[in-house]
Order: sequence, then structure tokens, then C-alpha cells
Amino acid sequence: MDVTVVGSCNIDLISYVPRLPKPGETLQGSKFSMGFGGKGANQCAMTAKLGAKTAMVAKVGYDTFGEGFLKKFRELGVDTGHCSSTSEAMTGAAPICVDETGQNSVVIVPGANLLLSEADLEAAEEVISKSKVIICQLEIDPKVTLSALKMARKHKVMTILNPAPAVHLEADFLTNTDVFCPNETETEILTGISIRTVEEAKAASEEMLRRGCNNVIITLGGLGCVVAQAGFSEVVHVSAPSVTVVDSTGAGDAFIGSLAYFLSVAPGLGLVESARRAVQIASISVQHPGTMASFPTRSELPDTLLQETSS
Ligand code: RIB
Ligand code: NA
Repeated sequence: MDVTVVGSCNIDLISYVPRLPKPGETLQGSKFSMGFGGKGANQCAMTAKLGAKTAMVAKVGYDTFGEGFLKKFRELGVDTGHCSSTSEAMTGAAPICVDETGQNSVVIVPGANLLLSEADLEAAEEVISKSKVIICQLEIDPKVTLSALKMARKHKVMTILNPAPAVHLEADFLTNTDVFCPNETETEILTGISIRTVEEAKAASEEMLRRGCNNVIITLGGLGCVVAQAGFSEVVHVSAPSVTVVDSTGAGDAFIGSLAYFLSVAPGLGLVESARRAVQIASISVQHPGTMASFPTRSELPDTLLQETSS
């Protein structure tokens, strides 16, 4: 296995609206669509679409959405041996509004995701131990996320944590993670440093290194990302191409999934070059509607982005 994702599945219920509604307001939208989402599933779909051997460890509801997820994963070539269903809760759901500038607001109802248990994780130990990289987020029980990071560590598997949605985290989450990847909002909540500029993001990434992170990548939307590595004196800014944004939902997941792809199949590229390519791929996703549906597949990308050595 190249990449194993331990994480969430949410069915995305996306309404396209002229602007995000105010409290108490009823707004008319122009379009509705339903798609497979959830940060875990999105990141998993991205690595699989790029061609990595990918496994998903997840819990869905015993309902039509859950069945749909299993089918979707199989279509993507994802190993679903550790995806299970429960009749105790519905598949996770995420009502989302996307405005005319491509900005979104998201509500998450985790449902079955919170029932992914330590026992489910233990059952997946073999596949985790044989992976090159594992990816976790915080849309499942955080205790299970932490156990997954520790399990991967025990087997010397590289760990990526996308600390989303934003919450306060104990130090254990940082020290058991090889590549810590928050966005601006998550970074603000974790460090108290507000981020409006690349310079502020660089300062926040250095603060996270001081708190025990090994490598930090802060994603900055249209500004790309910054990459900070323990032991390196310089924090590197990776800029994003300027594109017309249609729907930015899931762009962070396209970034994380692509990053995991490069770190697992082409480790020689290094963190900065992997991040640079992941930014390019995420920039493609924002130009199309939907979450995982907007992620490009391998065949849609230029060879220069997929080469396993840097040019
Ligand atoms: O990152 C985007 C995802 O966040 C959506 O697919 C939604 O399900 C939420 O989990
Ligand atoms: Na998109």
C-alpha cells in the first residue's frame, strides 16, 4: 500500500447561492448538487486518482449514502477492506453553501464517522503497517486519530495530520506527526497568530516547530502555502498560479491527497517540491464545481507534474 487514510466520509449537499446567508435569512440558490465528500474520503480519492495504491479506514451508515461510498471507493480502486457500516448512525453529512466568488460555509454532521472505533483501527493495523504514508484529519473521534498516528509511528510509517476542523490539540498530536498541515484558520486557532500575509504564516509555522512539530505546511488558499522543516533555517513560500475560482470546497483535501501521493511514490522529490506540485493540483480543483468530483485524474495532468524526479 502507498497511502492509507484513516478518516471521514460525508455526503456533501451543496447549494450554490449568490452570497452566504445571514442568521434567520432565507435565500434562493441557483443550483443544488450532491457529492461524495468528507475530508478523509476526499484526500483518499485524490491519492487514488493520481494512481497511488490507497486504502481507506472509515465507518459509514447502513444506508444508501454509505452504500454509495463503498461503490465509489471501489470505482476509484481504493481498498475498502477496512470500511464498515453501522446501523447506529447515518452516514456523515455536510450541508454546504458556495457563493458566487467560490467561497463556502460548511456544516458537518459526523454521524457514523464518530463510531469508527479503536477496535476498527486495530483491525487495520496490518494495512497501516504496510503503507508508506498515512493521512489523518479530525472529523472522526480525535482519540482514534491519535491512536492511528501512534500506530503508524510504531511501524515507521510517515504520518500526515490535517488538523481540520480546527480544535485545540494536545502536544501528542504534533509530536506523533511527520507533516502537520493546517490551513490559515486552523493555524490561527492553534497558535493565536492571525494570518493575513505570507510573513505571518511563516512566523506561525516557526511557532509550530517550536511546539514540537517536525514539518509544517500551512495552506493559504490563493497564496499557496508555506513549508517549514525542523533543522532548516528558512521557511519556504510556495505560490499558487492565479486562476478563476468556481468552487474552493475540498481544495485543501486535493492538496493533502496530492502531497501524500508524492511523498509515498516519489520520496526523492522532497517536501518543498511535493508541496509545489500539490498546490498546482489543488489549483485545478478550484476551477471546477464539487469536492472530489473536481479533482483531476492522472491522465488529465501534464507529465511534468507527475515525473518522479525533479526537473
Ligand atoms: O474539505 C471539504 C470537506 O469538508 C467536504 O467534503 C465536507 O464533507 C467537509 O468534510
Ligand atoms: Na472544487
